[in-house]
Amino acid sequence: MKIAMASDHAGFELKEAVKNYLNNQKIEVEDLGTYSLDSVDYPDYGKKLGVAVMSGSYDFGIAICGTGIGISIAANKVHGIRAALIYDKTTARLAKEHNNANVIALGGRLLSKEEAYKLVDAFMHASFEERHLKRLNKINEIEES
Ligand code: RB5
Repeated sequence: MKIAMASDHAGFELKEAVKNYLNNQKIEVEDLGTYSLDSVDYPDYGKKLGVAVMSGSYDFGIAICGTGIGISIAANKVHGIRAALIYDKTTARLAKEHNNANVIALGGRLLSKEEAYKLVDAFMHASFEERHLKRLNKINEIEES
């Protein structure tokens, strides 16, 4: 499994923690930045992550800003991205089962590290339910229209 990650400054510390958590499980992570606590703009990183995920080189992406909101909105502007803001184990699981999200977004100022690990695990261990494919196709149609 290979995961791409990106954050702004408000998500930097949680990105580092989640990256180490995944690396400790021998999961490969591509860190697309940011690389410090210096202030940056979340749209730049949402776009970077979205483009990387759509390259097909990653199983999914993890986007982190202060709330997870701004970076998920930005990532969702990249054609083909389904970025889901997740905040508990249920939304993490359903983001995969119902929405087949290819990016999950986390709030770096809202979640503890331990909470974030549980959400990432819940998403990774869930499977897409094909019965929802019709709805995803409708989302694709919106993008194409
Ligand atoms: C940065 O201060 C903050 O606005 C950003 O991380 C994010 O929460 C936006 O949605």
